[in-house]
Amino acid sequence: MTLTIASTVSLNNGIAMPRFGLGTFLSGPGSQTKNAVRWALEAGYRHIDTARIYDNEKDVGEALGDSGIPRKEVFLTTKVWNDDQGYEATLKAFEASLGRLQTDYVDLYLVHWPVPVLRNETWRALVTLQESGRVRAIGVSNFMIRHLDELLSTTKVVPVVNQIETSPFIQRRPLVDYCRRHGIVVESYSTLSRGKRLDDERLAVLGKKYGKTVPQIILRWALQSAIVIIPKSVHRERIIENAAIFDFEISTADMAAIDALDENCSIMPAPWEPETSAMWR
Ligand SMILES: NC(=O)c1ccc[n+]([C@@H]2O[C@H](COP(=O)([O-])OP(=O)(O)OC[C@H]3O[C@@H](n4cnc5c(N)ncnc54)[C@H](OP(=O)(O)O)[C@@H]3O)[C@@H](O)[C@H]2O)c1
Repeated sequence: MTLTIASTVSLNNGIAMPRFGLGTFLSGPGSQTKNAVRWALEAGYRHIDTARIYDNEKDVGEALGDSGIPRKEVFLTTKVWNDDQGYEATLKAFEASLGRLQTDYVDLYLVHWPVPVLRNETWRALVTLQESGRVRAIGVSNFMIRHLDELLSTTKVVPVVNQIETSPFIQRRPLVDYCRRHGIVVESYSTLSRGKRLDDERLAVLGKKYGKTVPQIILRWALQSAIVIIPKSVHRERIIENAAIFDFEISTADMAAIDALDENCSIMPAPWEPETSAMWR
């Protein structure tokens, strides 16, 4: 199968989602985000991931508007933050996000975290928004198996996506397998471990073999593992570098070698870990 920057995955409601996009967490408001989105669009990215809590929806919206690219050619994701969860609060938060994004619909709206008590009501609001036609697809983020089990027992609308931290160093195979069994596409965040593990010697050896950088090896591995990726950068050369992964293929043996790097090492403080789990039952 030949992958290109335009390759899509078909979500469980029939919508096509580009398998590659730009992340914007910690992309500063104003020119930093506007430039990053502009450079990404120039480099061929057609999928942008933002969230209310990133405080840059307005800049993403402006950059999309300024680009002159028809709105329907760009897949836009945003998320409802924890303090906006619950049915009415989510509907209100969505209107505010649309206003900042300066658009009349989003392609994908996600429940950012599985907030206790409120998360299923938040989901009900997302279903309403999808029915209203202003959201093309709805999904979740940071949901573990128990959260998905609970959600699926309360709704007929299966999330199209679960956006979770995965990387060579945290692969979450049971959760990934669960999502696939239920028709939920896995979208990876912090695929590059937020830049903290790019000095890995084993990946450097593979980089040399393929004539690619470590970020390119990691991103290509994720794509070949059928995972949607949204690497973030605010540097033009890195935005271009991260997209230059469609002209090589990692062999089956080398894919297995990267699979073997899993050490369940998360860089995101995770609510399901013992010190914080009481908050997130
Ligand atoms: N749903 C959630 O809870 C959640 C949580 C976290 C992230 N996300 C989403 O997922 C996206 C990606 O995750 P992430 O931002 O946490 O981490 P990431 O994409 O793994 O890494 C981003 C970091 O790596 C650096 N970087 C990027 N490309 C590089 C390259 N080619 N060479 C060297 N360094 C490079 C960036 O620096 P510069 O920017 O300085 O270039 C930045 O510090 C986010 O932006 C966000 O959209 C979602």
